[in-house]
Amino acid sequence: MVGEYSMTRAVVLFGPPGAGKGTQAARLRELLERPQIATGDMLRAALAEGSSLGLEAQKHMESGGLVPDDVILGLIASRLEEDDAVKGVIFDGFPRTLAQAEALDRLCTVEAVISIEVDEEVLIERITGRLSCLACGAVFHVVYQPPDVSEVCNSCDGKLAPRVDDAVDTVRARLHTYLEQTASVFDYYAKKGCIHSVDGALSISEVSQQIDEVVDGIL
Ligand code: AP5
Repeated sequence: MVGEYSMTRAVVLFGPPGAGKGTQAARLRELLERPQIATGDMLRAALAEGSSLGLEAQKHMESGGLVPDDVILGLIASRLEEDDAVKGVIFDGFPRTLAQAEALDRLCTVEAVISIEVDEEVLIERITGRLSCLACGAVFHVVYQPPDVSEVCNSCDGKLAPRVDDAVDTVRARLHTYLEQTASVFDYYAKKGCIHSVDGALSISEVSQQIDEVVDGIL
């Protein structure tokens, strides 16, 4: 089972909530012609379907905590079985614990971990101004990435709205969870020498440019 995935190559977009992982992963998906595997999006889709997995995840997501590792690793293993994952993948929001990072090493070859670094005040401003498409999940920001038509998705005409977990108190809990449980994943990859840090406080296009330079250098 494990051997089936061993050749799948992975780029990981790493960073705190609101750093811009989803924004950059969506662009990188087109550039690298690889699927974006975003565990947060997968969990929200499961919740929208009303599946038992989604309902189990909901309480963790709405409290700003993490969904248990076994649930996440089950989702990842299934997703990696799909045909489009064979030529490589981009992870967005995974891995988030040491156990997830260690499991990923058994599933994929991690080519690069791109760490998007942004201060906390900026993260809060970004998340509290974010609008997400209820239909396709595309991400906008009221100031930094406004839609062409207010509250309407540029891609699919779906309705835009804040995410349930983007309320300020939940955002603070998510940032706390990041520091407590996810920041150590940075050290795990730093020891392996595969971290590439980018300044995530710059504009979306400037962050994209830094990521392109990393990708050009390694892939
Ligand atoms: P998830 O959906 O993964 O959320 P997150 O990691 O907290 O990250 P966000 O989606 O909030 O931010 P982002 O970095 O993608 O930023 P974005 O590009 O949207 O996870 C949600 C929950 O699911 C978790 O809390 C947890 O409960 C659970 N979960 C998910 N994965 C899990 C896992 N592996 N293990 C356990 N539990 C898991 O950008 C943010 C905003 O800023 C947008 O409005 C955007 O337009 C704007 N923006 C982006 N870049 C810039 C820029 N450079 N300048 C100005 N504005 C910008």
